[in-house]
Amino acid sequence: MVIGSGGREHALAWKLLQSEAVQEVFCIPGNGGTALLPRCRNLAMTLDDYEGISRLALVNNIGLIVIGPEVPLADGITDHLLAQNLTVFGPTQAGAQIEASKAWAKALMTEAQIPTAAAQTFEAVAAAINYVTAQKLPIVIKADGLAAGKGVTVAATLDEAIEAIERCFSGQFGAAGARVVIEDCLLGQEASLLAVTDGVTIRPLLPAQDHKRIGEGDSGANTGGMGAYAPAPIVTPELMQKIQQQVLEPALAALQRRGIDYRGVLYAGLMISPEGQLNVIEFNCRFGDPETQVVLPLLETPLAALLLACAQQRLAQFPPLKWRSEVAVCVVAAAPGYPDQYPKGAVITGLEAAAAAGATVFHAGTRLKQALVTDGGRVLGVTATGADLEAALQKVYLAMQEIRFEGMYYRKDIGHLALKAEA
Ligand code: AMP
Ligand code: GLY
Repeated sequence: MVIGSGGREHALAWKLLQSEAVQEVFCIPGNGGTALLPRCRNLAMTLDDYEGISRLALVNNIGLIVIGPEVPLADGITDHLLAQNLTVFGPTQAGAQIEASKAWAKALMTEAQIPTAAAQTFEAVAAAINYVTAQKLPIVIKADGLAAGKGVTVAATLDEAIEAIERCFSGQFGAAGARVVIEDCLLGQEASLLAVTDGVTIRPLLPAQDHKRIGEGDSGANTGGMGAYAPAPIVTPELMQKIQQQVLEPALAALQRRGIDYRGVLYAGLMISPEGQLNVIEFNCRFGDPETQVVLPLLETPLAALLLACAQQRLAQFPPLKWRSEVAVCVVAAAPGYPDQYPKGAVITGLEAAAAAGATVFHAGTRLKQALVTDGGRVLGVTATGADLEAALQKVYLAMQEIRFEGMYYRKDIGHLALKAEA
C-alpha cells in the first residue's frame, strides 16, 4: 500500500509493482497515473483516516505500507499503523520531527557534530529582530514547522529579513511559525541524498539534484521541484563516503540516543561549497519529490524487498544495492500560474506517444475522469534514462513535445549545472 497522491507515489507504486513478490498495490488516494497502472488500485480515502486505512490494510492482508508525504508522518500515521501490527516503511511521529521541526533537527545536528550552518532559534519577534540586526547578510529565516515549502526566506537585506520574521510570527504558517530558526547563509550547489534505514543500519541511494525554482537558470519563485536528475556528479565517491561518515551515521546514532527507532527514508538536503565543503541544509523524513522519479528508475534491486528489510530491521543482512549505470532525468510539466493560482481540469493528451518515445510519465497532479485531466500545480513528471545525461535529456525533451494540455509549462534547462560542469 502506498499513501499519497503525487509523482513520488506514482513512482513508488510503479517500482514496487516490478518486484516479483508484489501482486497488487493499493494507492491511497493515488492519482490518474496510478489509476492507469496495471495491478494498481486507487482507494478514495483521506490521509488522516488512520482507522479506515488500517482496517483496509488488515482486511486485505497488506504486506507493506509505504508512506509518501511528510504531513501524515509528522501526524503519527506510522505509530497508529504499527499499533495494529502492520508493517510500515516510514518513521514514527518522534522520528518525523527531523523534518517537522527545524529547531529539533538543528539541535540534533549540533549534538551529533553534523556539518551545518550556525543557527539560533527564537520564540518572539523582538529577540529575533535584535539578533538578525547584528548578523551578516544574506541570512536565512525559517519557520520551525512544516510550511509546504514556503517557510524559508533567504534574505538579502535587513528589511527582507525583518519582514520574513514578522510574517512567520504573524500566524500565516499556523503553529509552524511559532518558532523561527535564523541561520547563516550557505553558498554552493545543492544536492539531495536519500538514504534508507531500518533504525540500525543506514544505506545511501544514488545522489540526485532537483530544480526548485520555477524559471530557467534557477530563477523566480520556489516550487515543489520542476525537475531532477540522478546520479548527480557533484556528489563524488569521496563526498559520498564523507556523507555516510559525517552525516548519515551520526544522524542515525543521535536518533537512537533519543530512543527513536527510525525506519524509512532519511533525506539529507546538502549544500556543497565550491571548495567541496559539505553542509546539511535540512533533513526530510521521506522520499524526495521529484528525486524519487529519477532515483527509482535506476534501481535494479527489488524495491519491495529493500523497503521490507528496512521495515523489519534486516537491512544489515540485505545484499548491496544494484544500480543501472545510466542517468535518469525528470522534467515536470506544470499548470499555468503554478506555484501561485492555477486552473484544474484541462484535458491531457499525448501520453502514449511520449511513452512510445521512450519516456516514463509519472503523474503528479492528474485525475482520471472520462478523460485524463489536470488536478494540481505539478501535473506530470516526464522521465527518461540514457547512457549519459545528454542522451537522457534528448529523450525526455522529445517525449515532452508529444504531451499537451492547456497552458502547459516546463523548464527547458533541467540538468544545466551538470552539463556546465562537464563542459
Ligand atoms: P526548504 O523549504 O527547507 O527545502 O528550503 C528551501 C530552500 O532554501 C533550500 O532548498 C535552499 O535553497 C534554501 N536554504 C535553506 N537554508 C539555507 C541556508 N542556510 N543557506 C542557503 N540556502 C538555504
Ligand atoms: N524535492 C524536494 C523535496 O522533496 O523536498
